[in-house]
Amino acid sequence: MNRKTGILTSGGDAPGMNAAIRAVTRAGINNGFEMFGVRKGYTGLMAGDIFRLEPLDVSGVIQNGGTFLQTSRSEEFRTVAGRRRAYEQLHERGIDSLVVIGGDGSFTGANLLSMETDINVIGIPGTIDNDLYGTDYTIGYDTALNTVVQAIDKIKDTANSHNRVFFIEVMGRDAGFIAMNSCVACGAEVAVIPEEDNQLEKVRKHLSTRDDKNRSTIIIVAEGSKEGDARTVSEQIQKDFPNIDIRLSILGHMQRGGSPSAKDRIVASYMGIAAIQALLDNQKSIMIGWKNEQPVHVPLSKVVKMNKQVSHEEVLCAESIGTFQN
Ligand code: F6P
Repeated sequence: MNRKTGILTSGGDAPGMNAAIRAVTRAGINNGFEMFGVRKGYTGLMAGDIFRLEPLDVSGVIQNGGTFLQTSRSEEFRTVAGRRRAYEQLHERGIDSLVVIGGDGSFTGANLLSMETDINVIGIPGTIDNDLYGTDYTIGYDTALNTVVQAIDKIKDTANSHNRVFFIEVMGRDAGFIAMNSCVACGAEVAVIPEEDNQLEKVRKHLSTRDDKNRSTIIIVAEGSKEGDARTVSEQIQKDFPNIDIRLSILGHMQRGGSPSAKDRIVASYMGIAAIQALLDNQKSIMIGWKNEQPVHVPLSKVVKMNKQVSHEEVLCAESIGTFQN
């Protein structure tokens, strides 16, 4: 290892990514590394958009949402030729290790790069979805969940005032962590998530027992549910229950923005320090996970092969207190 290390953010941005970049940069420099920032994720890596990072470059960023390095979703990096281009850019500069902050798709590319070349890749989990295997926590989840909870609380005020049923769409293409835990935190009635089947039946059953005592009903739909998005689900249900006053609210990308919570800043910072320590310890091709409030090492090959999903028991539990039995 020559202690020349690149850092990039990839895939969907998540609040707290800046804290991770800052920690990796400062811990690296403090341990004698030369640190290089890569702009716009793998797209910038392939184009050679790489610059030397100094400690002051990461000053004043920890409180900002998004990622100051910017990010991208790259089709080209999925190809061998794309990854070869990326390798050449790193090799030309003598960079032999790369810290990638991102989610599942980003780590699939990172794992392939480390298998095909002599670049050592260390992953840091950054996605609001919290859906990565091998870690209890991904950077951005806490901030996004709080943003969602605040939004649903506001919707509930107006829903209560009109005895309405609201379908609220939250992010979560493959996993329902945001949907399920915002259901718990907001006292919502139903969470429709990608992990479960027969969700329409569940919603119908719930609405058929609805009476005037229910000032409002909040049904949270993860965008990747098997029944379709919240619009599709709500339109179907409106056909089944023409007399119920139904409204739809899609929270969208506001869930990804905003100043990171203290938890996101802190976990991201410790993960960043752990990533540099892993390089010093000669660890290869791993993700820094978070278990029992401590950083752990998980092989990247395992992270990309396995799934982390909400269990059926967790959903039952979340929904069991969202309503009362007469
Ligand atoms: O970052 C993950 C995620 O937020 C998913 O929940 C969502 O499906 C996706 O990103 C949206 O990505 P994009 O910004 O590319 O539309």
